[in-house]
Amino acid sequence: MRSEVLALLDKNLVMDRLKTVLDPEIGRSIVDLNMVRGITINDGNVDVKIALTVAHCPLAKTLQTDVENAVRKLEDVRSVKVETTTMTRKELEELKVKLHAATGPSTPQKSSSVVGPGIERLGRRGIRSIIAVISGKGGVGKSFVTSMLASELKKRGYEVGILDADLTGPSIAKVLGVTGKPHKGPSGSIVPVKTKTGIKVMSINLVLEDPNMPVVWRGPIVNSVIRQLYWDVDWGDLHYLLVDLPPGTSDAPLTVFQSLPLDGVIVVSSPQDLASMIVSKAVNMAKKMDAPILGLVENMSYLNCPHCGQRVSLFGKPQGEKLALELGLPFLGAVPLDPSIARLSDEGRIEDYSSPIITGIADELRMRATKQVEQLTQSLPIAWSVEPASQA
Ligand SMILES: Nc1ncnc2c1ncn2[C@@H]1O[C@H](COP(=O)(O)OP(=O)(O)O)[C@@H](O)[C@H]1O
Ligand SMILES: [Mg+2]
Ligand SMILES: [Zn+2]
Repeated sequence: MRSEVLALLDKNLVMDRLKTVLDPEIGRSIVDLNMVRGITINDGNVDVKIALTVAHCPLAKTLQTDVENAVRKLEDVRSVKVETTTMTRKELEELKVKLHAATGPSTPQKSSSVVGPGIERLGRRGIRSIIAVISGKGGVGKSFVTSMLASELKKRGYEVGILDADLTGPSIAKVLGVTGKPHKGPSGSIVPVKTKTGIKVMSINLVLEDPNMPVVWRGPIVNSVIRQLYWDVDWGDLHYLLVDLPPGTSDAPLTVFQSLPLDGVIVVSSPQDLASMIVSKAVNMAKKMDAPILGLVENMSYLNCPHCGQRVSLFGKPQGEKLALELGLPFLGAVPLDPSIARLSDEGRIEDYSSPIITGIADELRMRATKQVEQLTQSLPIAWSVEPASQA
């Protein structure tokens, strides 16, 4: 009886599951990348051997978790063990050649594409994915979602930056607890401030003398400030740069859409938004600007009752999923109202917050953002440029 069942779980099935796992650095299936080096199945216990491109890759843990989750989805799997080795230099060279062949000679970057009268889009620099976070109106938790996603991605081993382009709202630097001033580095460019977990943050509020000074940025000034926050800052190599946009459809978000080489947009809404057309206006602006929308997050969706744990819908039934459907967007998830979010934000400790919901949203984002990056090998994966000390 037992063996009959187990016969159904074979290496091909495991291999099929592994095809869905993307290398977190390169964004291609680990099967295509020839990283799967062995599968053994013993009484429902699956051992998978994976060859990493870089020893001690900070993303190894993420890859391991992804492999485990993928294989666990198979029926009759009791346990999954992932063992890692490292590719030899020769294997790595072969892989580089293969990757370059697959993408062809590097074509001109979209950096120089002219998207509006007199506005030139800035180049992509060493940044893999530039993702803007937008909302129809203020106060829906756009900055919270931005900082949480940054924090989740950082925890998974990615290099992450946040560009706070919301010149009207309170600084995202505050919820992340960064207070130091950005300074000029040796090359003359501005060095962003780092959070305690290593997220690079650049916010106009950090450069202003008096954080309480009312700022009215208009027209060409908005344009040049945002361009400077992106271009004059030494971001270094990043996997993700998240851009916290001002709410609505005014000049400032428009400038970001026109100036930065965005790879994707995340829309944040709250249940109160729904009656009005504010969310769809913001979505339409993004669509008009040809920015691929990666999905919608509904924040403050519901409350978990502190007494009985039941879900309480404060603003009527959460409708984020329905809204996403109507707007033709993927639904990334619903985040509950959580008093500890407000507290940790006040204390500048938002990186200490974690919830499986946010982790799930970050994973969705990771998958969807990867699919949006067209020229994966234009610049080599970041980890590859860091030679492991042991091999030097
Ligand atoms: N899910 C949540 N639960 C509780 N408080 C939240 C939640 N999301 C955001 N907040 C709080 O609501 C306020 C507005 O959030 P913020 O991210 O600044 O909004 P926005 O950037 O859209 O203007 C902040 O005080 C923040 O701490
Ligand atoms: Mg904000
Ligand atoms: Zn209750």
